[in-house]
Amino acid sequence: MDILISGGRVIDPGSYDGPGDILITAGRIAAVTPAAAPGAPERASTDSRSGVKVIDASGKIVVPGLIDLHVHLREPGFEHKETIATGCRAAVCGGFSAVCCMANTRPVNDSPAVTEYILAQAAKAGLARVYPIAAVTKGLEGRLLCDYRELKQAGAAAVSDDGRPVLDSRIMRLALEQASQHKLLVISHSEDLTLSEGGVMNEGAAARKLGVAGIPNASESIMVLRDIALSELTGAPVHIAHVSTRESVRAIRDAKARGVPVTAETAPHYFALTDESVLRHGADAKMSPPLRSEQDRLAVREGLADGTIDCIATDHAPHAPDEKAAGLTQAPNGIIGLETAFPISLRLVDEGVLSLPQLIAKLTLNPARILGVPCGLTVGAAADIAILDPCAEYVIDAAMFKSRSRNSPFCGMTVRGKAVSTIVGGQVVFEDNRAA
Ligand code: DOR
Ligand code: ZN
Repeated sequence: MDILISGGRVIDPGSYDGPGDILITAGRIAAVTPAAAPGAPERASTDSRSGVKVIDASGKIVVPGLIDLHVHLREPGFEHKETIATGCRAAVCGGFSAVCCMANTRPVNDSPAVTEYILAQAAKAGLARVYPIAAVTKGLEGRLLCDYRELKQAGAAAVSDDGRPVLDSRIMRLALEQASQHKLLVISHSEDLTLSEGGVMNEGAAARKLGVAGIPNASESIMVLRDIALSELTGAPVHIAHVSTRESVRAIRDAKARGVPVTAETAPHYFALTDESVLRHGADAKMSPPLRSEQDRLAVREGLADGTIDCIATDHAPHAPDEKAAGLTQAPNGIIGLETAFPISLRLVDEGVLSLPQLIAKLTLNPARILGVPCGLTVGAAADIAILDPCAEYVIDAAMFKSRSRNSPFCGMTVRGKAVSTIVGGQVVFEDNRAA
């Protein structure tokens, strides 16, 4: 069925920001027209066309579907935490029409068979687009490079050992060289394990108060600096995942100024929270890299504002309640993020860090460019669209999550902003009827 999205504020980063109607035919955008005044003849005639589903988007913003460069869907192997179907359900509820899933599954996504399995499960779910990220090294062990040619052929969109760093600099150099030959971006989980091992949270006052071992900022920035050096050496692009420290922001800013092909993402928790949150939320505020200091939080926001940090990704990392209940030291790293990313990020607009179109770019066009996938509301493009209500106010409640897991430090927080409709390839895959 054709769809007409009518009366919203259309924001297509870099191209258009204003009132507009969008017509979707056969899964594609057929027309984008500045909205007619209410009651104007053109609008009335369009509305009365038969066979058209009209979505009233007045008071809402209409944007390209959000794209998340960094999620953990846990399938195959950890289906008790999340499946591709439940993770994709969470994605579309959060306004995401596409997610990139990390390779730290069981088995690891280091073979065409696993990449193809993920794509098949995603097709079966029929919700968000899924771009599988394959491993850099076999078994994420940091020793033997994967066969990038066959992974690319199978549908891998990038490579990363995320969850673990590629500790050996020579292996990382070879990975950059070989992956770039196959047009695969290397995404770096920047962590020097010799500095972070045994650490439970950020090194600082909160860790001392809790009497647990800390993880210093340098464990991240040393590897960010190394990967920038290796990108410079090889000429291959590198993408820095989940930037959390001021030193990393500075290093990436300097590298970009020199013309190094480095890009970067951060996650909402790094610009919304500090390590103080661990005192209140315990293991639900434990992730890798850890929440940092207020100075770091402010630096991450500056990095977003000046373009040093290109995009916002969630690092959605579901874990089962009993796993997170194991205590701060024993609990696994990670928090879920797909269903809270938009409201948490919208605060950047309220607080004057980014304009609304800049924020939308960091959730849509910028990640799409980094990954080399289509994005935008131009005529002829696949209709991947999110309709967002920037005004809806509510308390984040674990019971609302479609994710199979509940591990979020944002529960109980009053926020504004939610997805009310998500469209992928012209299909309405999420509709919040309460908000309609
Ligand atoms: O907090 C994290 N959780 N960081 C990672 O790098 C891995 C992820 C996971 O897989 O749970
Ligand atoms: Zn990571």
